[in-house]
Amino acid sequence: MINLSEKDMIFKYYSEMRKNGGTVFDNTEGVWKSFSYEHVRYIFAHDELFSSDPRSIHNQESYSAGGISFITMDNPDHKEMRNVTAHQFLPSTISRMKDSINETSSALLSRIDRNSDLISEYAVNLPVTVISEMLGIPEDKRSSFKEWSDFIIGNRTGPGFMELNQRMVSVLATLLQKNDEDSLLSFINKGRFHGTPLSMKEKIEYVMLLIIGGNETTTNLIGNMLRILSDYQDMQNTLRENRNRISEFVEESLRFYSPIQYLPHRFVRDDTEIDDIRLKRGDQIFVYIGSANRDESFFEDPDSFIPGRKDNRHIAFGNGVHMCIGAPLARLEAGIALEGLLDKFQRIEIDHFRTIPIENSMVYGFESMPLKN
Ligand code: HEM
Repeated sequence: MINLSEKDMIFKYYSEMRKNGGTVFDNTEGVWKSFSYEHVRYIFAHDELFSSDPRSIHNQESYSAGGISFITMDNPDHKEMRNVTAHQFLPSTISRMKDSINETSSALLSRIDRNSDLISEYAVNLPVTVISEMLGIPEDKRSSFKEWSDFIIGNRTGPGFMELNQRMVSVLATLLQKNDEDSLLSFINKGRFHGTPLSMKEKIEYVMLLIIGGNETTTNLIGNMLRILSDYQDMQNTLRENRNRISEFVEESLRFYSPIQYLPHRFVRDDTEIDDIRLKRGDQIFVYIGSANRDESFFEDPDSFIPGRKDNRHIAFGNGVHMCIGAPLARLEAGIALEGLLDKFQRIEIDHFRTIPIENSMVYGFESMPLKN
């Protein structure tokens, strides 16, 4: 188990690595690692040079780093698959969900108090409930769906997964067959790829990608915002009085503690260069979003939390063709969560000794976060 200051050591490490040229080869892992804003953005922007699909380079059958569906596809396939639901994630579509997300959040908040763990009892439940509603999972299947989702994102381990997985796959298969409403499942069901309907495997993987992409990330954003509110009490007071500043607070939280710290899946398509660094076909690059968002050559005073900072072009949601499909939804959920939590608790101060950061360096977030009494 690590503590808060140990978790925050990564920012020092990033700063050292940025001094070494922005992109460095890690001999131990045998991969390139890009730390500078300029390089990370360049890689995101040039999908014709950097593939997201290891199978295209290494002829692998499957991808073990959790990549499924269109997040590990390249264009034109990626775009075709993404478009199966992309319209459902547009800001205009998402903004219509404000009332229902508010209701979900209020219901969850009514079940917690100052002794609750704000992660497991609130921040985990909000995104999973919202996505299950969007998918069209009926009420009586929601708790199994939540359990399945916990297994998929690794929140839960141990026996029972195989059986639950089989059960959920068959529940989803049934729902996918008969779903005729305006839900995400129905769009996935109607989806076509290369001129033919999606196979059941493709449909299930699509659902799994939405779960993996949207749940833990949003949970972590909510937890990170709580930590910031706790660390900067003056800002908490400002926010209580100026609710119109919530969205700039959310944006700065995304930059400051980016929920996804790095992505491991970029692969060099053909020999190329970034600045003077020569990369070979098939080389793997880890892109450090968390470091790019703290890069002093792009952000002024990057280690200070400044809501409303000028030119906050953070890349917490990535950039380019794979830029997060769920960004408008995550922003809406985060704003609603923040507002609800401020209303619920007159003073938000977390118990640092009992707050447990997630050890995995790929993400920034918390496993557990109780309030100080
Ligand atoms: C704070 C919350 C979130 C963060 C920080 C985040 C971050 C990211 C990032 C960095 C990528 C780029 C991946 C890449 O370039 O390979 C991405 C892609 C993606 N995200 Fe999110 N995400 C969040 C919320 C969501 C939500 C709510 C959903 C959906 C319910 C979602 C679904 C996806 C999907 C499907 C992709 C793949 C897009 C593509 O390959 O075209 N994300 N996300």
